[in-house]
Amino acid sequence: MIEDIVKQLDPLEPKSKLIIFGGGYSGQRVASAGRYLGANVLCSRRKEKSKGADFTFNVDQELSDEILEGATHVLSCIPPLLSGEDPVLLRLKSQLLNSKNLKWVGYLSTTGVYGDTQGEWVNENTSPNPQQERSIRRFSCEKQWLATQLPIQILRIPGIYGPGRSAYESLLKGTAKMIDKPGQVFSRIHVDDIAGAVLFLINLYSQGNNPSVVNVADNLPSNNLEVIDYAAKLAKISLPSKVPFEIAKKTMSPMALSFWQENRKVDNNLLCKKLGYSLIYPDFKSGLKNCFSKLKINE
Ligand SMILES: NC(=O)c1ccc[n+]([C@@H]2O[C@H](COP(=O)([O-])OP(=O)(O)OC[C@H]3O[C@@H](n4cnc5c(N)ncnc54)[C@H](OP(=O)(O)O)[C@@H]3O)[C@@H](O)[C@H]2O)c1
Repeated sequence: MIEDIVKQLDPLEPKSKLIIFGGGYSGQRVASAGRYLGANVLCSRRKEKSKGADFTFNVDQELSDEILEGATHVLSCIPPLLSGEDPVLLRLKSQLLNSKNLKWVGYLSTTGVYGDTQGEWVNENTSPNPQQERSIRRFSCEKQWLATQLPIQILRIPGIYGPGRSAYESLLKGTAKMIDKPGQVFSRIHVDDIAGAVLFLINLYSQGNNPSVVNVADNLPSNNLEVIDYAAKLAKISLPSKVPFEIAKKTMSPMALSFWQENRKVDNNLLCKKLGYSLIYPDFKSGLKNCFSKLKINE
């Protein structure tokens, strides 16, 4: 519920206008919470008639000045282009630099920029070491944003889940795979905590507390088997059989394989201890309970 996201947050300053480039899964959740906190929020999608599209944004299309006029906050949730360029900067860098009211610009990046640490923890002081092509492009976009002199904050995000995008959907569709790779963990974040953290960081930024990079991850990196097992037990769905990774990898897509080739735990101490954000869903168990409750409502 939006109330769960906003209960620890202060309202945004009067006349706040938040422009979200890439109003997809996370962007729409940030938008709903931002509106609840009193901001005028506009979200882009690529097609005019898409759900939640307040305006369209495509790299090959002019953006009317009206959209950014009076904007106080901007969040980009758009992944890099295959060329490694950032679509928002490629098209709108000078418009953004001329937006005199901008107080905060956020960029949703990924924890993939840290690369493989063979299961060790990474924090914001860990040197990025992207190994996958998409993570190299992502790190390049981070650098492009940091080089702009905008009031930029990079949020590094691990696997996003939440209602409609959780282990339940894959279990119900029959696509859940019990891939057994001992020692492998993934960090995760519930979409409501992305929205909560974005709005929390916006408020802190205006108080001068403005680290340039913040990990937004939950407290409990965990093995995929534990997550699927927990979801199946809660929903009383039978579990598929385990498949050893060495066998599963023979039929994996290159994208899926690239996720399984990296193993790291994402440290959230900066966000949750030093800055003081309180996670709504501190681990996959609390987050999956929320997803399950939404699943029942939607049945
Ligand atoms: N999914 C994960 O587990 C994960 C993990 C870490 C980081 N991330 C990153 O975090 C961000 C948010 O993730 P999400 O899962 O919420 O994303 P999402 O639902 O896929 O939404 C992405 C948004 O970006 C827009 N978009 C994509 N390419 C574009 C382009 N070239 N030009 C203009 N708009 C474009 C999409 O437009 P349409 O609405 O028209 O499709 C959509 O609104 C993304 O950058 C994602 O790569 C994702």
